[in-house]
Amino acid sequence: MNEAGVDWESLYRSQTTGWERGELNPAFSHWSDTFKQLAASGSASVIVPGCGRSPEPIVFADYGYRVTALDIAESAIAFQERALGVAQSRHCVEHADVCEWRPEQHADLVYEQTCLCAINPDKRAAYAEALYRWLKPGGVLAALFMQTSIKDGPPFHCAIDEMYELFPDQRWEWGSDTVTSPHPVAEISELGILLTRR
Ligand SMILES: C[S@@+](CC[C@H](N)C(=O)[O-])C[C@H]1O[C@@H](n2cnc3c(N)ncnc32)[C@H](O)[C@@H]1O
Repeated sequence: MNEAGVDWESLYRSQTTGWERGELNPAFSHWSDTFKQLAASGSASVIVPGCGRSPEPIVFADYGYRVTALDIAESAIAFQERALGVAQSRHCVEHADVCEWRPEQHADLVYEQTCLCAINPDKRAAYAEALYRWLKPGGVLAALFMQTSIKDGPPFHCAIDEMYELFPDQRWEWGSDTVTSPHPVAEISELGILLTRR
């Protein structure tokens, strides 16, 4: 059970995973050329916090990234270890809390696909601080901010005004290319924005 009162591992074991699309997030597809360009240097790295059993980490690996995926649920870890073939690859899967974990190296990209909305809102500042620390200056945070009118969570609503406070202009340059991903659960969507770490 995490601080949001959710036992994520139980949700995976009982297949109560309404957030899983079974395909790439539309925002990921929208940004795919940008992600490929970032990877063109040949040594790019991406961190995928709260990776779950999403397909995006393996596609990042196909694009040439060194992938680090992390999650607190064992089922998610086991899934990504298999998908990324971590034993025989340069990729890494960590069983960790996003607010506690420290990377060995700074990353070029963080792909934040609905982990922020999964943690208790009182942990958001610590998580935002971690995201800033994980990235190199000039690194990119691809963020999917959950938009929901439901009061409780998870998923917890990520109001855009609160996001501006969490990711302030002094630290982050906000991109203008936004994208909205309809969510598998009705009346919920994700607002995708690219933020560059200053
Ligand atoms: C809504 S799911 C999204 C999973 C995945 N990104 C996807 O799109 O399918 C949230 C994920 O965050 C993980 N999670 C929740 N709190 C976490 C924490 N404090 N540290 C690491 N992972 C966490 C859960 O186990 C779950 O896999």
